[in-house]
Amino acid sequence: MSPQLLPYLADPNDGLPLELHSFEGNARDTREGVLLNPHTGRWYPIRDGIPTLFIDALREGDAPFVARYREAMTPLGCNIEAAPADSSPTQAADELARIESERRARDEQAEQYDRMISLKVYEYIETPTYRKALGEDFTTPLLEAGCGTGRFTGLFAELSKELVAVDMSRDSILRNRVRHAGKTAAPVHYVHADLTHLPLKSDSFGRTAHCGVYEHIPSRELRQQFLAHACRTLHSNGTLLLSAYRYGGITRFFGKEGEHDGGIPFTRFTEEELRDEVETDFEIEYFRPNLGIYMSMLLARPKA
Ligand SMILES: C[S@@+](CC[C@H](N)C(=O)[O-])C[C@H]1O[C@@H](n2cnc3c(N)ncnc32)[C@H](O)[C@@H]1O
Repeated sequence: MSPQLLPYLADPNDGLPLELHSFEGNARDTREGVLLNPHTGRWYPIRDGIPTLFIDALREGDAPFVARYREAMTPLGCNIEAAPADSSPTQAADELARIESERRARDEQAEQYDRMISLKVYEYIETPTYRKALGEDFTTPLLEAGCGTGRFTGLFAELSKELVAVDMSRDSILRNRVRHAGKTAAPVHYVHADLTHLPLKSDSFGRTAHCGVYEHIPSRELRQQFLAHACRTLHSNGTLLLSAYRYGGITRFFGKEGEHDGGIPFTRFTEEELRDEVETDFEIEYFRPNLGIYMSMLLARPKA
């Protein structure tokens, strides 16, 4: 992890700033280390250069990391034994279980995802459309919210001065990193985290790209949570690019909602539904109901 990423990061449990402590690596790249909230002692691991920041309820097992770095962590004040007093956002257990189910499935299916011919074909529609919609802006950083294995990470890096790429699937991020290592002019910073509890500071990005992810966030409440974070982390005159499964035309025969293999939830949205959800936090400036057959796309700005 580059120290350039630190100014973007915030504790997903309480929004407070974090300190970077490096155990392995060098001044430009922490390979192993922790991000510490000095107020609570809560800490987040950096493993193989990738920071992992989930709320307590979504935290994965830390035992191997603690066993390895206990001696370095204890003097820093990392709260190793007990979870700090709970200030994490409350969330219904069944909603968190659905996020966990997708996280597991995405990790298991990361390799398979890259082999999907339908996605390779769809890229011919998506890539020029996203490029045109976002335009180039080398003055502000861009957030890729749900970067997956990196179908568009190279494109978004090409269009911006710095890219923060977030996903909850560590295996997808690892594949993404291999795919783009040394190939982008702009720095790409990866963050392993949940978009509905986004560990990023407010007012950080000029543009956010959220492509092919929204339909997998499993409830309206969680989608609103994501949109609130997307709004908060954008500059007030920033732009959100969002594409999501469409419910209309032929896609009406594919079902309104359900689960893909492995427990990946999905919902298809009519134009009215998608507009209605997004308009709680954003003003929609452009809406394209049919980006190809399966998707809709929109551009929006945070409401004043
Ligand atoms: C269909 S893939 C799309 C990835 C990429 N945008 C693309 O178009 O290839 C959906 C991605 O969103 C991620 N994702 C879904 N819900 C998420 C959440 N709540 N937080 C973080 N990532 C999430 C999944 O892990 C997966 O990598």
